[in-house]
Amino acid sequence: MALRNIRIDGDPLLRKRSKEIETIDTRLKILLDDMLETMYDAEGVGLAAPQVGILKRAVVVDIGDGPMKLINPVIKNSSGESFMAEGCLSIPDYSGVVCRPEKLSLEYLDIDGNKKYLEAAGFLARAICHEVDHLEGILFKDKVIPEEQLPKEYLEQERKRERRA
Ligand code: NI
Repeated sequence: MALRNIRIDGDPLLRKRSKEIETIDTRLKILLDDMLETMYDAEGVGLAAPQVGILKRAVVVDIGDGPMKLINPVIKNSSGESFMAEGCLSIPDYSGVVCRPEKLSLEYLDIDGNKKYLEAAGFLARAICHEVDHLEGILFKDKVIPEEQLPKEYLEQERKRERRA
């Protein structure tokens, strides 16, 4: 395995749409392993192939429950709303609150080419949405909600959290 260079915001490649993967070969397997290693090294919870310069629909995620490799991920259904601050390995030293679905269902191919179905909620759903956006050339900063537009419930919850910290 090897570390790959993470592309930084401003790189035009991050704004391109990634292509569906048609063949799962050794090259792709190496890419996914390298992406995981690169993500752990950078202390991230997700990484999409375009972030390492490859315009293919592959992402890795690990929110602390173990590594996931998602090929051609497609969000089928989503519901609810969740507000939380996010960051991105391609946008160092920046964070902002994004609204994401509370729950979603996802179809993808696993590393052996099997079609899989996944239900995700909370932080995992958020991480998946963030990575799938990368495959469309969308960065989270495009979706950041200005503080004055944040729902009162979110601000109240944040105030409570700060008091506890
Ligand atoms: Ni990102």
